[in-house]
Amino acid sequence: MTGSEKAERYAVMGNPIAHSKSPLIHSLFAQQTGQHMQYDAILVDMDGFEQAVAEFRQAGGHGLNITVPFKQQAWALASQRSPRAELAGAVNTLDFSAGNCYGDNTDGIGLVRDLQDNHQLTLQGQDILVLGAGGAVRGVLAPLLEQQPRRIIIGNRTATKAVELAALFAHLGNIEGMGLDALPQQPFDLIINGTAASLHGEVVPVPEACVGDSSCAYDMMYAAQATTFMTWAQDLGAAKCFDGLGMLVEQAAESFYIWRKLRPQTAAVIAALRTRMRDDAHQ
Ligand code: ATR
Repeated sequence: MTGSEKAERYAVMGNPIAHSKSPLIHSLFAQQTGQHMQYDAILVDMDGFEQAVAEFRQAGGHGLNITVPFKQQAWALASQRSPRAELAGAVNTLDFSAGNCYGDNTDGIGLVRDLQDNHQLTLQGQDILVLGAGGAVRGVLAPLLEQQPRRIIIGNRTATKAVELAALFAHLGNIEGMGLDALPQQPFDLIINGTAASLHGEVVPVPEACVGDSSCAYDMMYAAQATTFMTWAQDLGAAKCFDGLGMLVEQAAESFYIWRKLRPQTAAVIAALRTRMRDDAHQ
């Protein structure tokens, strides 16, 4: 690929942004599919999101990924939104190719693809516990419910937030919200950690009985080593534990599809990122 001045421009915007893996992921997708595109990471001032998007568009930018803390602002800015973005209340993908500002949210489908395609888990008919009731969890509930689990329980440190969030999605399936201390003392098929606790190395106080020997634990966070949540579940005898690296790559692949109408193969990209993360951790 030569002539980068002609490459179609994309970027991820966030604050902080220095450690974003999106530029690497999208450059691997572009290489794999022969697309001539440039993908940058743009650090945006906390009060400068709208202006940054306007400048990017004026400079001929084609599309954006949006990350923390601007996903709600991106939702508000979008002139048209996909149904899944509407439900998520947040937008992580903007596409300008139709001349408007189209907003989508690919986080939930990224999680579902990682669970089903990469880890061969069945969601239909399963008992699922989702921990946390912030934006990260809200973004994945509709695509999870679409797979028709037997039920989803949202467990959160602040019970009222879980109850309110569940009510927003009750029309889509069997979903209930409660405090962590009210969780049923029985094993779940799948426990998804969508809290920020692993970021701080903290354990979410979930009843140990929620983890059984056929439970699967999935942390939406990822790290070079097992996260605190994964170690906690492993110690309680969970059958399988995964981190969210695959979700990160799958949500990126869906954004790439929205922009380029091509589906990159994700397995090699996930493997490349995993290797790089482990190498970096050993340096
Ligand atoms: P995000 O948009 O990334 O989801 P958020 O809206 O700040 O971030 O939500 C963070 C979630 O992690 C919340 O559900 C929070 O619980 P509260 O609603 O009670 O604040 C949860 N969380 C953060 N740290 C936690 C910890 N140490 N233990 C349990 N839950 C934690």
